[in-house]
Amino acid sequence: MADTFQTTTTAAKRNRSNNDTEPKKKLTCGDGDPAAALASTRHEFGEHGGVNMSIEASATFTVMEPETMRRMFTGELGPDRDYFIYSRHFNPTVLNLSRLMASLEGTEAAYCTASGMSAISAVLFQLTSSGGHVVASRTLYGGTHALLTHFLPRTCNITTTFVEISDVEKVDEAMIEGKTNVLFFESVSNPTLTVANIPELSRAAHRKGVTVVVDNTFTPMVVSPARLGADVVVHSISKFISGGADIIAGAVCGAASLVNSMMDLQQGAIMLLGPTMNAKVAFELSERIPHLGLRMKEHSNRALVFATRLKNLGLKVIYPGLEDHPHHELLKSMHNKNYGYGGLLCIDMETEERANKLMNYLQNYGQFGFMAVSLGYYETLMSCSGNSTSSELTSEEKVLAGISPGLVRMSIGYIGTLEQKWTQLEKAVTRLQEYGFPNKN
Ligand SMILES: Cc1ncc(COP(=O)(O)O)c(C=O)c1O
Repeated sequence: MADTFQTTTTAAKRNRSNNDTEPKKKLTCGDGDPAAALASTRHEFGEHGGVNMSIEASATFTVMEPETMRRMFTGELGPDRDYFIYSRHFNPTVLNLSRLMASLEGTEAAYCTASGMSAISAVLFQLTSSGGHVVASRTLYGGTHALLTHFLPRTCNITTTFVEISDVEKVDEAMIEGKTNVLFFESVSNPTLTVANIPELSRAAHRKGVTVVVDNTFTPMVVSPARLGADVVVHSISKFISGGADIIAGAVCGAASLVNSMMDLQQGAIMLLGPTMNAKVAFELSERIPHLGLRMKEHSNRALVFATRLKNLGLKVIYPGLEDHPHHELLKSMHNKNYGYGGLLCIDMETEERANKLMNYLQNYGQFGFMAVSLGYYETLMSCSGNSTSSELTSEEKVLAGISPGLVRMSIGYIGTLEQKWTQLEKAVTRLQEYGFPNKN
């Protein structure tokens, strides 16, 4: 389709908005806080003046004149002018959530998908072709790693060179001008919490005409990759943005031209592969974004307090908010100051047995949290990454990615009081230490 989509639709003819004159590009975030950008996004009211938007639950849309249909299919009339064809293409409620995602990430446009994996695969399909080449961090969510290692080479002859993302020189060497299409990494990596130098990596990629795609699932509000130079930001909305551990969803945030290309009737990866978000889900999620900032502050606050105190108990703690984390200064230079250093911390228990003992105690005796994969929930979730969300990696790949067999990843929740939850955590750790492990440093 032609260039029909901007985040800043001026249409919504039947609607009222608190901001009909927002600029087309939203690459800044006011006072450095994405909350400011979110608050200046147009507010959709309900059809009857409700403070919340109405859900557009229709799969298909009618027109008044037959000629309009033809003009919609040529791309002359599109969602920017409030013309919709069919909800696998654009849907007004999904578009509203997408607009919020674009504001959150400071991109010109965004579109939401059925899962984080579909956002990642759709963007890779869109930006590469058969024979294409990706350079990617060797420390990635296991599903993304498997997509790049196994699925894309088999199905599309798209190959990936994996690199140590903190070695910008090596990343630069791996990117081949004219051949490499995409540089892919996570702003803060799953599960090792390695921090990527987004400005430097973006500069290196752009010198070679490579598109930078950053998975910001671990750090919404905390880090804004597009404001730091990245071209595309992808999210698993299923995590912090949802916050309820009840929805699977994703988003691609980037230039309007990218979003439009993904919706192209002949060549669009979202349009043709069809990982569509349901409008009812989009509505539900758009009600949660306004309190994402408050939630992220408390996730980060507790993670920093617990990481500091666990370290004082002698545990091997990995948390980029700690001054001794190798990338602390880097994250400090990139993060949005009001949101701390993120809600994830890791404890390296060195062996799987110790990791399991700790998690078992914390869940079944301490009531501290749940043994479960995923993150961003109000309860603390913990998993041993090597045998769960990174199990797709071979033993050798895990060693290269720095994933110890006893690595316990914790997504710190905000339920209860901080001191109540700390007491539960401290009790479990000191109890296990009485039994001889983990040994104090
Ligand atoms: C960093 C990261 N990216 C992407 C995904 C995939 O997201 P989804 O489960 O929503 O498909 C995950 C899921 O665990 C993840 O941790």
